[in-house]
Amino acid sequence: MKINYKKSFPAFIMAGVLACIYACNKGDAKEKSYYTFNEKNELVRPKDYRTWVFAGTGTTPKSHDRAALFPDFQNIYIDPESYRFWKENGYYRDGTIFVKELIRKGDTISPIGKGFFQGDAYSVSATIKDSIRFPDAPGGWQYFEYDTDNGLLAEASPAVGGSCISCHSKAAAGYGAFTELYLPMRDAKGFGKGNPENLNTRKGIISKTKKEQK
Ligand code: HEC
Repeated sequence: MKINYKKSFPAFIMAGVLACIYACNKGDAKEKSYYTFNEKNELVRPKDYRTWVFAGTGTTPKSHDRAALFPDFQNIYIDPESYRFWKENGYYRDGTIFVKELIRKGDTISPIGKGFFQGDAYSVSATIKDSIRFPDAPGGWQYFEYDTDNGLLAEASPAVGGSCISCHSKAAAGYGAFTELYLPMRDAKGFGKGNPENLNTRKGIISKTKKEQK
């Protein structure tokens, strides 16, 4: 059969529009979740989180503060969908997951001077905001840890709550997560569709002449 392209043109356009509505919506899957629970209602250990968005690093070296709670670095990641949501809306969506990896101090000497550089990772924990599954947790934020006594990480964790919640629920600004301590998260809050790191400005920037005077 010969297709009359001239006559079929509107139909082609229509089909294209419909295909796009379907595919574009699929690609923009707003509800995509980056965590799963097993049949015992335990959070399965998050995987691939180093491919997510890097939310920030705290460092509390013991040599600086013997009483510091977490030695020595804390690398924090957030799932990309929730980062995007936070950047566009300025609050965390239900379905957010953060992962915290604790890291020991490695080298203290480097070509740029003496300091603190990251050694080996030894602890993995997570927090999620899920007010449907955890309606009684403040803001729906619940906590999970994967450390064990046998040197391997657990495959899943029940909700830990308790001391995690009592410290975390004090997190400033009422966001649940310690957002105020993470530069990438602070910069992104309600930023919109672009990306703050692409701006030509930096809050902490000092002019070259001033830098030389320092
Ligand atoms: C004494 C306070 C305190 C306790 C107790 C605590 N945390 Fe945290 N947590 C922090 C602080 C401060 C941060 C900010 C990042 C850092 O460590 O540098 C943080 C960050 C995190 C993060 C990264 C996302 C966020 O919320 O900012 C996760 C995940 C996390 N903690 C899990 C846990 C789990 C699981 C427990 C309980 C087993 C726990 N924490 C207990 C203070 C605490």
